[in-house]
Amino acid sequence: MSNLSADYEIRRFQAAAKDDPAYAESVAWMRAVAFGFHDARRSDERVDKSIELQRTDGRVMTGVYQAGTVPCHSLGADVPVATFGTMTKTLNIGFGRLLDTRLVTAVTVRTSHRRRGLLRRMMGEDLALAREEGLAMAALTASEASIYGRFGFGVATSEQSMKVDTSARFRLNHTPVGSVEVAEPKVLLDLAPEVFDRLHRSTPGSIGRHEFYRQFASGSVSRDGGEDPKVKVALHYGPRGDVDGYVSYRFAGWSSTPYTMEVVDLVAATGAAYLELWQYLAAIDLVDRITWEEAPVDDTLRWALEDARCVEASEARDMLWLRILDVKQALEARHYPADGRLVLKVADSLGLTGGTFALDAGGGGAVVTAGGGGAPEPSAPDLELDVAALSAIYLGGVSPVTLAASGRILEHTPGAAFRAARMFAVERPPHCLTHF
Ligand SMILES: CC(C)(COP(=O)(O)OP(=O)(O)OC[C@H]1O[C@@H](n2cnc3c(N)ncnc32)[C@H](O)[C@@H]1OP(=O)(O)O)[C@@H](O)C(=O)NCCC(=O)NCCS
Repeated sequence: MSNLSADYEIRRFQAAAKDDPAYAESVAWMRAVAFGFHDARRSDERVDKSIELQRTDGRVMTGVYQAGTVPCHSLGADVPVATFGTMTKTLNIGFGRLLDTRLVTAVTVRTSHRRRGLLRRMMGEDLALAREEGLAMAALTASEASIYGRFGFGVATSEQSMKVDTSARFRLNHTPVGSVEVAEPKVLLDLAPEVFDRLHRSTPGSIGRHEFYRQFASGSVSRDGGEDPKVKVALHYGPRGDVDGYVSYRFAGWSSTPYTMEVVDLVAATGAAYLELWQYLAAIDLVDRITWEEAPVDDTLRWALEDARCVEASEARDMLWLRILDVKQALEARHYPADGRLVLKVADSLGLTGGTFALDAGGGGAVVTAGGGGAPEPSAPDLELDVAALSAIYLGGVSPVTLAASGRILEHTPGAAFRAARMFAVERPPHCLTHF
């Protein structure tokens, strides 16, 4: 039986600079992450590049190390048996409001040390630290859907893959208001963050991007490491001549059938820019199909097409998982499009933020009164739910009515789930274009 505190030591540190004596610790951590995700052994240059990106984002690396003697010939005690990375970015919580959010990433546990509670320990400690720092929200994207609900994470946005037939069938009911031009991919090193920032501020569910994305969109790094010389870029200019959208894309090769272009990154700050970038993609000669892996579930393209069946979409997949760390702070941060009062009884198995909360929304804002700690308990709850369900409905991505019907929310006051649906609605369907 393993004794977690005696057998393992947990350390948190920032990625070190290359000339720092602590650099080896960052390298070992980076290699452990790559191993956990079954990557090929990375070259020294690639590890250096990854650490540079981590430094730019101010990421914190958490590593779990064997405290006792390590069996001879096995990986040394300096190589973490478990990793966990964090950084802080903003989350758009609707109506243009941004909330600082702790992003969890690079979660791995070495197979020979799994199911001993290492993930639970890293998660519990890191979420508590984030809360102590005053953050009200944590977020992650998950490799498997069965891992994170137990820690209070709920699915707040979904995404889908799309294959679009761009043969002669593709006709959009849209009169362009701007124009599209091809550009050198490297212009995105400067432009991509600016364009993304506009999208970010107008899209509920959007997470601020880390350094990787501008490098990725411009072909400066690929998911496999070095440069991607296949990447091509087109920019959308709005009616005033400013760049308000871009697409980077790559040809899937002459063996693809039909000949296919893959979207690497598509960011459009306006609805018109989005449709006009699609118009451009569909016009690319010699190609009859465009694929995109990160498309919104509520996609406008199919509604703008004369033949909506040009779009073949996959099943929706869970994308952004949210975890409220402080119910009062998170609920008061939101804008509410409908006035109303709701008493919520929230369970939190990690003990970070459970309790009964009265949410009084009026004129867009809200006051949340929490019971406990000497304060009187609010009246009987209208809705009873765990923090994962509250996190899932927080951005309006799933209706509380659906969660009540599925047993995830107990509705004590008839009609309260529908009232919650109206109060938690956001101005447009949430979507997150940032994987981390
Ligand atoms: C997923 C992973 C991090 C789990 O680490 P671990 O240290 O074995 O997890 P713990 O021992 O702390 O288990 C915590 C809980 O999660 C459960 N759990 C762990 N992995 C699970 C999985 N893949 N599916 C379902 N449940 C899982 C455990 O049963 C345990 O449940 P309980 O505490 O409610 O009884 C590890 O298996 C791993 O590295 N997998 C490959 C990389 C990966 O998928 N990372 C996630 C990236 S988003």
